Amino acid sequence: MAILLDEWLSYEPKKPKPKQSIGPANVLSIFNQKGGVGKTTSTISIGAALAEYGRKVLVVDFDPQGSLTVGLTGNHEISPSVYDLIVGGVTTQEVILKTRVPGLDLLPAGIDLAAAEAWLFNEVGREYALQRALAPIINDYDYILIDCLPSLGLLAINALSVSQGLIIPLQCEFYALKGLALLQETLEKVQSRINPNLEVKGILPTRVGRSTHHKDVLELVIQGFGETVFHTVIPDTIKISDSTMAAQPITSYASSSNAAEAYRHVAAELIERIEGKK
Ligand SMILES: Nc1ncnc2c1ncn2[C@@H]1O[C@H](COP(=O)(O)OP(=O)(O)OP(=O)(O)O)[C@@H](O)[C@H]1O
Ligand SMILES: [Mg+2]
Repeated sequence: MAILLDEWLSYEPKKPKPKQSIGPANVLSIFNQKGGVGKTTSTISIGAALAEYGRKVLVVDFDPQGSLTVGLTGNHEISPSVYDLIVGGVTTQEVILKTRVPGLDLLPAGIDLAAAEAWLFNEVGREYALQRALAPIINDYDYILIDCLPSLGLLAINALSVSQGLIIPLQCEFYALKGLALLQETLEKVQSRINPNLEVKGILPTRVGRSTHHKDVLELVIQGFGETVFHTVIPDTIKISDSTMAAQPITSYASSSNAAEAYRHVAAELIERIEGKK
């Protein structure tokens, strides 16, 4: 059955209403074990768009590559960082930084986070280190978005064990469908062994070009995953690469661009999916 893609994409979420009070935070991991699919870009851009809608947002860099930290500060050697939180000795409040976007805070990371994985390995409760780190600030935010690294290792499991939801950025190439099957297996294991509350809140097609191949794969994804898929796609555009270099969210760097509007649309859908349930 051919899906009417135009009709799918024409869905308009309700415009988010202001929230009366802050927290407790909805914790969401931006997750896909495949590299370069737009996890970090989506964490920054959805975070900034949620903050524009008046939500108080913390983005957590949980990738030793530190791309989220560089993408919001231009700096990749920030100390203390999430590493210090995991191994102990600092408070979460001491590590959090404000960003240039009002309402958007950052928990920074750097390459030393790679060592935390080895350190955690011998710890009791090693899957819950990030959960322990976020517990003291859970009531200070409406959304906590965790930028995961492209792996299924212990750091990723820590992110999944503290999260209520997943956002899965997906590049619409044919092999991505295989990757989704693998991801589904990991998700089922985490749900049955560690975190039964974990839910996929949305699959987000990213870097979508004009080719019919992208369109065909997008239709397959919508047929396979239905309403889990967001009703918007992020266009492939040089403006996003430029915003990465400028260390700014696309919503500030090119505020009226299609890509910025697409991320605002995703944030509004997310608010509808999460806050609409309450
Ligand atoms: N919609 C887009 N259009 C054009 N370029 C994009 C888009 N989204 C991301 N990029 C670029 O692609 C590169 C990878 O994106 P990003 O870092 O967000 O992916 P990632 O999934 O976090 O990667 P990793 O798995 O390495 O953490 C970046 O240089 C970014 O600027
Ligand atoms: Mg990344």
